[in-house]
Amino acid sequence: MATSINPDPSTPGEVPAPYGTGPAAGAPATASGSGTSGSEGKPVVRMRTHHLRQAKVNGERFAMLTAYDQYTAEIFDQAGIEVLLVGDSASNNVFGNETSLPVTVDELIPLVRAVTRSARRALVVADLPFGSYEVSAQQAVETGVRFLKEGLAHAVKIEGGKFYAGTVEAMVQAGIPVMAHIGFTPQSEHSLGGYRVQGRGDDARRLIDDAVSLAEAGAFCVLMEMVPAETAAAVDAAVDVPTIGIGAGNATTGQVLVWQDMAGLRGGKMAKFVKQYADLRTSLSDAARAYGEDVRSGQFPGPEHSF
Ligand code: KIV
Repeated sequence: MATSINPDPSTPGEVPAPYGTGPAAGAPATASGSGTSGSEGKPVVRMRTHHLRQAKVNGERFAMLTAYDQYTAEIFDQAGIEVLLVGDSASNNVFGNETSLPVTVDELIPLVRAVTRSARRALVVADLPFGSYEVSAQQAVETGVRFLKEGLAHAVKIEGGKFYAGTVEAMVQAGIPVMAHIGFTPQSEHSLGGYRVQGRGDDARRLIDDAVSLAEAGAFCVLMEMVPAETAAAVDAAVDVPTIGIGAGNATTGQVLVWQDMAGLRGGKMAKFVKQYADLRTSLSDAARAYGEDVRSGQFPGPEHSF
């Protein structure tokens, strides 16, 4: 069984956080070497962007899942998921919208804060939602700062190709680690003409150019969505930074899925790239029905639940 990648607590150059008191024992760690203990008494070392880069160098892989709240963040973090994404997919997985477009910065920031407060080890990446970074590099820096300052995110993700290289450069210079998202970019679903695989045939060159420009601009990672496996492998080979795939084959350094798809909470037809590891929809539905029946029949609460 492949285990979660192991950030070395004695990473050369990284020392315990020098200022402030840090988190209390048992509270979420915020920095490598902060001295807090994991469940097995080992120090919890925060995943950093350089750990992901090292994973690519070492030929290791890492996993990313979306998370939008305290319990999923805690569970996925303790399960060893290296990166948690507070995706703008919260729009259509939490807020009940049809697409990712309507969700706002003010709606996402509290979710990001819940996840960062609850994950002790995972690197937490926050999506900048549609309309919050496209206008100018300055707008992107300002929004990114809000996600790091108010949401306590460790990094942000933006969608788009090499057109955004200048934006990425400005954000990175401002101290905001940026994950770039190319290929199918859901915020552009209307201009892309719906959910369509990107980078087929000659279009592969465009994605390679996008990835190279964004990585040169300072993106620490390139995520590819709905890209043929062969194209994704070529993109991965063209950049030194790690790549993450969703519907992009098996050659990327990492993989990501929306957690409600991965765990079978969402109903309806799944995309081809989704593998379901549980059937939470059925489990929750069964539990809710059983509870409802117990209440109606007077079986709950029993004496053992009463004071
Ligand atoms: O918002 C999201 O969940 C995403 C993933 C699909 C990569 O961007």
